[in-house]
Amino acid sequence: MRTQVGIVGAGPAGLTLGRLLEQAGIESVILESRSRAYVEHRIRAGVLEQRTVDLLNGAGVGERMAREGIVHHGVELQFDGERHRIPLSDLTGGRTIVIYGQTEVVKDLIAARLATGSPLLFEVDHVAVADLDSDRPAISFTHGGVSQELECDVVAGCDGFHGICRDVIPPGVLRYFDKEYPFGWLGVLAAVAPSSEELIYASNDRGFALHSMRSPEVSRFYLQVAPKEDIAEWSDERIWEELRARLETVSGWTLSTGPVLEKGITAMRSFVTEPMQFGRLFLAGDAAHIVPPTGAKGLNLAAFDVTVLTRALSAWYGSGDASLLDGYSQACLHRVWRAQHFSWWMTTLLHTFDHYDAYDRRLQESYLDYVCSSVAASTTLAENYVGLDMPDH
Ligand code: APR
Ligand code: PHB
Repeated sequence: MRTQVGIVGAGPAGLTLGRLLEQAGIESVILESRSRAYVEHRIRAGVLEQRTVDLLNGAGVGERMAREGIVHHGVELQFDGERHRIPLSDLTGGRTIVIYGQTEVVKDLIAARLATGSPLLFEVDHVAVADLDSDRPAISFTHGGVSQELECDVVAGCDGFHGICRDVIPPGVLRYFDKEYPFGWLGVLAAVAPSSEELIYASNDRGFALHSMRSPEVSRFYLQVAPKEDIAEWSDERIWEELRARLETVSGWTLSTGPVLEKGITAMRSFVTEPMQFGRLFLAGDAAHIVPPTGAKGLNLAAFDVTVLTRALSAWYGSGDASLLDGYSQACLHRVWRAQHFSWWMTTLLHTFDHYDAYDRRLQESYLDYVCSSVAASTTLAENYVGLDMPDH
């Protein structure tokens, strides 16, 4: 087999890249190790920046999102028994966010890909990438028990944090930056109408809690828990009790409960690799960087990377100009680091840390109070949350 761009991974990064390349008239093959059902049912975050919404609309996959996505103009921060609204749109010249599950974005992208007949292979095994420093990189894999080789012009490593592409880069080329947080998030999807119109980010002495949503009938919640917490220790009753304890601190407000549809625990980590490329391999999305979910930036960053990569590949195929490809990492990393900082900042602002003493906690409360009462400080939150306009360097 031969193609122009070999894409490893059918998460948001790989699928969006495939779609953008198709629009640009560039061929690709997408190889995914999991099944279609697995990829379509993996529950992830659900906040899309306006620019991501615009990108998906421009890519012709926004129809269901326009119908089912919920446009939000603000978010709530809760601490010390009070809730404070950050009016995102008022502070950012009218920008909004859209609540639409990443799972749904993935389903829409897969449906669009299958409709055009462009190759997308699920359940591939033994994926290996070779000859990245030549002009004919190749991906070998098995599919349906048959070994195959895919010759490409370039390889896009969109295989997430645990993928194989990053590790193919010779030692000494990449520099890693990372931070692990001393907690994880227990995520819960529940068949119950949201108890709030907007997302609630709650700081509490028992730990952080987040009330989010997916639709008028489905809510999404998160609880800060210990990083190695066993999900078996968390019965549905215990989850609701803890959500109540952390969220029902505002007088008169109650949390509606309902059947739990899904629950799971995710570790919280920040990670960046520099550069995001080696020879003919380009890393995009979680393969190159991850953020804790507090700022809801993961998918939005992945969407940005693949936009930059598509533009660079279009220039290269169009006129042979490799300068944008050469500058791919630099163009992405500027935004990546801004999102890293914002995600770390939201995380440290809202979570409890075991090593905090009473003084640290008071500082955190004072900072929360400042973010909610100063226009300058709340604008900092708002403009980062809805997605900054940044020049590509
Ligand atoms: N071969 C083929 N596919 C692979 C391999 C491999 N060796 N290893 C991993 N994959 C697949 C995974 O099964 C997954 O479907 O690559 C895909 C990577 O997808 P994501 O992990 O969703 O990463 P990405 O597409 O970069 O999306 C970033 O997703 O993880 C969230 O919070 C993150 O929102 C962010 C977004
Ligand atoms: C979600 O709805 O899953 C969600 C929302 C906001 C976040 C993280 C996750 O910051």
